[in-house]
Order: sequence, then C-alpha cells, then structure tokens
Amino acid sequence: MRIGLLTRNRNAWCSQQLIKSFKNRGANIACFSFGDIVARVGLKPIASVGNIDLLTELDAILVRPIGRGSLEEIIFRLNLLQKLARSGLTVINSPSSIEKAADKYNTLAILSEHDINVPRTVVTENVARAMDAFKEFGEDVVVKPIFGSRGIGAARVSNYDVAERVFRTLRFQRQILYIQEYIWHGTSDIRAFVVGDNVAGAMRRVADSWKTNISKGAKALPISLSQDLEKLAVKAAKAIGCEIAGVDLIDEGGKPAVLEINSQPGWRGLQTVTDKSISDTIADYVISRAS
Ligand SMILES: Nc1ncnc2c1ncn2[C@@H]1O[C@H](COP(=O)(O)OP(=O)(O)O)[C@@H](O)[C@H]1O
Ligand SMILES: [Mg+2]
Repeated sequence: MRIGLLTRNRNAWCSQQLIKSFKNRGANIACFSFGDIVARVGLKPIASVGNIDLLTELDAILVRPIGRGSLEEIIFRLNLLQKLARSGLTVINSPSSIEKAADKYNTLAILSEHDINVPRTVVTENVARAMDAFKEFGEDVVVKPIFGSRGIGAARVSNYDVAERVFRTLRFQRQILYIQEYIWHGTSDIRAFVVGDNVAGAMRRVADSWKTNISKGAKALPISLSQDLEKLAVKAAKAIGCEIAGVDLIDEGGKPAVLEINSQPGWRGLQTVTDKSISDTIADYVISRAS
C-alpha cells in the first residue's frame, strides 16, 4: 500500500504525525507538494512526481493544506486532483468537496439546503447593499474573507462609518463582501474533527477575544460532544462531501450553528485534549478507503 501525502510542508507537525501513523500500519508514504507534480495530456503518465506514476503507483492521495495561491494555481490544482479522481484514484478529501469548503458562501448555502442552522449572512459586490445588511444585522457584524482561514482578515465592525470605509476598501481590491450577523458566543466555540462517519475528537476553543482560532492563541479544552452535536457535525461534513473535516460550531442563543467547514484541518491543538491519536484515526480511515 502506498499513500500520497500532498502537503506544502512535510516537516509540519501534522505531516510528521501522519507519516508515523501510516508507517506503523505498514503503508509506504510518498510526500510531495503541488510544485513537484507534472501533469501530462496525451502522454503517459498523466501525473507524476519524479519517477512515481501517481495513478498506477498510489492507492490514495491525502490532501493536506493546499495553501494560498493565485486564481490559476488554485484552479489548476483542483482540476489536476479532479483528473486523478476521474481516472480512479482515491483523493481525500474529494476535489469537489475541497472546492465547496473553500468558499464560505457556498458552504453556508449548501448547509442551509440541508436544514443545518448557519449564521445569517449577506454576500454582495455592492457597497450600498452591504450597508443595508449592516443595518439589518443591528450594526454589529463580522466581515470575513470569503476564502479565508485561521481567523486572518476577519473583522468585527460595529460602527457605521467604519463599515462603509471597510466595504469600499474591500471593493476597491475587488473582494467579495461577506457579512455575517455577530453572534454572542462568550469568546468560545467548538471544533469537531470528523473522520468518515464519526467525530474523531472535539474541543472547546476558549479565547480572550471573539475570534476563537487556536492559531490566534485560543486555548483548547476537552469536551465530550452530545450525540446531537456529533450528528450535526457529521451531517454538515457530509453535506459538503468532506470525509475529513474540521467543523466549527458556535452557540447561537442555545442553538448550534455551523460557521464553516475546514477541508484540510490541522489537529495539533485538538490532540492536546484528546487521548486517541487523530493521525492514527485518519491513517486507518484512508487505508480502509484505499483498499
Ligand atoms: N458571525 C460570527 N459571530 C461571532 N464570532 C464569529 C462569527 N464568525 C466567526 N466568528 C469567530 O471567528 C472565528 C473564525 O471564523 P471562521 O468563520 O471559522 O473563519 P476562519 O476560516 O478564519 O476560521 C470563529 O471560530 C469564531 O470564533
Ligand atoms: Mg474557523
């Protein structure tokens, strides 16, 4: 069994954990980044890394953070993964689920089609309509990059003039205005880590400010999820098509809302409050899907 680990950084903690878990299970690992892949059309192999033919010599590819890139890099990378998947290679997560999860608007739209509670959100390219949304949400909103992660660039805006200035500036840079009602969550929320049909681990993230990303310094606390929350997290991941997912759950006045789905989640913070090895769970899952 040979598994491709598609990662920017093979020395990253999560990559190292995965490499160990796969090796312990007797699987060979080929670690590479998008920059190492050569795709060929009308020629064989259709995709290779050095002398490895990805289609015939790998049993699965596990996609770790794709990272930021230009529009053409991102589209090419996803299309390359789509091609491999169409040709029969197991790609986890599936390229189409990665694409859905990357766009926070698309994610919430799909979740809401599945009757999953999500924050009220307005997305527009129009500054005047964005100001309407700002007023509709009681002049207290979160403005986020539509393709973003780790809390970077998300801003809480509760001043009319600042809102208008922010929206105009974002539009000047041709960014989409993604505006969400501010949810009072008491500076904590929940991250559930879904693998297949189960939650492999969960934590409460407690922060000093309203952003509860671990990468922004939030603390991880152990939590045991209710069955309802576990079901909700798995249902949300499945709605997007992610077999492995970090599901962010926020408490909205006693009712859980799904904030976003991360299709390439890390688990370093989570592992500090979880006994069972997350990388072992992932490795077992990927191997079961590969065979
Ligand atoms: N609408 C909101 N109301 C209150 N807090 C929010 C809201 N949206 C996001 N947050 C906080 O900001 C964090 C980051 O937002 P999230 O949507 O998960 O984007 P990212 O991809 O940057 O993690 C969340 O974990 C949560 O703590
Ligand atoms: Mg998040």
